[in-house]
Amino acid sequence: MIVLGIETSCDETGVALYDTAAWENGRPASQGILGQALHSQIAMHRDYGGVVPELASRDHIRRVLPLLDETMHEAGLQLKDIEAIAYTQGPGLAGALLVGSAFAKSLAQGLNLPSIGVHHLEGHLLSPLLGASVPQFPFIALLVSGGHTQLMLVSGVGKYELLGETLDDAAGEAFDKTAKLLGLDYPGGAAISQLAEQGQAGRFDLPKPMLHSGDLDFSFSGLKTAVLNQVKKYEATGSSGADERAQFHADLARSFVESLVAVLVSKSQKALKQTGCQHLVLAGGVGANLQLRAALNLSAKKNGFEVHYPPVDLCTDNGVMIAFAGALRMLSANNGSSKSGAFDIKPRWDLASNNLS
Ligand code: KG4
Ligand code: ZN
Repeated sequence: MIVLGIETSCDETGVALYDTAAWENGRPASQGILGQALHSQIAMHRDYGGVVPELASRDHIRRVLPLLDETMHEAGLQLKDIEAIAYTQGPGLAGALLVGSAFAKSLAQGLNLPSIGVHHLEGHLLSPLLGASVPQFPFIALLVSGGHTQLMLVSGVGKYELLGETLDDAAGEAFDKTAKLLGLDYPGGAAISQLAEQGQAGRFDLPKPMLHSGDLDFSFSGLKTAVLNQVKKYEATGSSGADERAQFHADLARSFVESLVAVLVSKSQKALKQTGCQHLVLAGGVGANLQLRAALNLSAKKNGFEVHYPPVDLCTDNGVMIAFAGALRMLSANNGSSKSGAFDIKPRWDLASNNLS
């Protein structure tokens, strides 16, 4: 079955075509990707220091049709070859979701095809199945994106149980806010990570929030505040040379990354132990972070579990993960697909409430 996927939940417009034949025949799942196109709005939002929802919606409208053309062209297919359409139904920005939902539903009506609403995080957490090392069910997914930080138990496609989540800022949000404090552009995750590489370890004793809380929840707003306090303290000491200032920023970035990574790794280990799972999947934009990957690899070696990653280009938002998750759902009975033309978005939506029966 050939499924078209449309992602418009935030600031990336993603379109992709996925053919389930690869998955059904036991071939590497990545072979089912027939075509994909992506446009990132990051440059457009940068001047505002964050995503401007109205601008995001308008840009999705402008981009989605040309991206569909590009995807069809890459796949060498025509619209009549599509058999179902998957779109991100939530969570995300309401206006942005509406663009994808309206587009997918209209196209599905025009082609007389079923459409299926996909949970954005399901897209992220299944995307490691498209990587080189494939996780076995059941696995633990550490989902770390700009909007979410969650540990999920994944027993199969459409079988998810939330084990813990952030009580305040998401990991990506903590990266982005801290980046701003260190004078870096939005979104600052990748930039902080690079800066941290030039920093010295151990100069700042930043908190590792909820490390010993006994549960699998997270909290990152205190860590960001601790960074702010260090910046204020430094500013109060008076002016310093550019080199010293750059070193201060790099050292602080290093301590920030080390604290955040320590908490993510420790809670992931705890989730594996608690559930008896031996496979961990890292998903979401922060999953591109090299320090986090290195620390998880080390922990995996030490503690005897396997860790799996999506291909790096599929860590941040994209259309492939939505086409793929929608396609796998389409293979199950009672998957919730429909031919209804009603636009139905869910800006706030719990993943586990969308489990397959
Ligand atoms: O999953 P994603 O593309 O969008 C959401 O669904 O939120 O994640 C975006 C987040 C941003 O906060 C960005 O700063 C962060 O992922 N990010 C990173 C890295 N690359 C992207 N954070 C840390 N290190 C990175 N290399
Ligand atoms: Zn995302």
